[in-house]
Amino acid sequence: MPGFTGRAAMTGARTVGALHDRNPPWINALEYVLKIMLSASIMQAIIESIRDFAKDHFSDAKYSHDWEHTERVYKLCMHIGGVEGADLEVLAISAYLHDIGRSLQDTSKGTLCHAEQGARIAAGLLDAYPLPQEKKENIIHCIQSHRFRNSRHPETLEAKVLFDADKLDAIGAVGIARAYLFAGEVGAVLHNPDMDPLMAKSYSKEDTGYREYTVKLSKIKDKMLTGEGRHMAHERHSFMEAFFERFLKEIQGIV
Ligand SMILES: [Fe+2]
Ligand SMILES: [Fe+2]
Repeated sequence: MPGFTGRAAMTGARTVGALHDRNPPWINALEYVLKIMLSASIMQAIIESIRDFAKDHFSDAKYSHDWEHTERVYKLCMHIGGVEGADLEVLAISAYLHDIGRSLQDTSKGTLCHAEQGARIAAGLLDAYPLPQEKKENIIHCIQSHRFRNSRHPETLEAKVLFDADKLDAIGAVGIARAYLFAGEVGAVLHNPDMDPLMAKSYSKEDTGYREYTVKLSKIKDKMLTGEGRHMAHERHSFMEAFFERFLKEIQGIV
């Protein structure tokens, strides 16, 4: 700053420091708490702004992969991340942004990967926010590595939590409900007792909720990357086993 350099600045800094030192301890403590509250409220405003940006990407989403899925993944991230000691700010932003590339994947008929596209959009967005560089890089890594099928493996704790949260939303009671919602979207029948689910084609009228469970959902519990995620996945898996055991009996008319 012109006119406020060198010795004068040092003297000023010493004066401010000296004044601060003369404050009663409770004033210094109050100042410290106010600084923390201010930075927490700035972070909250950043997260809400990013949430609004992300929500706009879901206006035409199919119900099995809509904004409600993102909201559930956010809640799961807050729970698992809290238990595992992860950075909840990185997780909140990553959860809200993790599927923003999905419409690009859908319109490209799967030639584009929504995790890669989402990470690219997020990188441009995050440039505008005053977040530490390591947090930005972690968020981008979380989005890139959350997909079941792509080659990037979650490396950070936050990426592992997001991966688990996203997969947990595909199993349990919500997972079953989503599987039948998806079956309805592709025009599948409720159930075909004459068709081996392992032989049925995806995106056909045989792509039933039971096929989705047999081929995909029943295997998810073994893919979890965090302790809490694994614990929740086993519990949700047991519920699905009980549901489909009962479902097949009802189809046979024996209960
Ligand atoms: Fe995804
Ligand atoms: Fe997702």
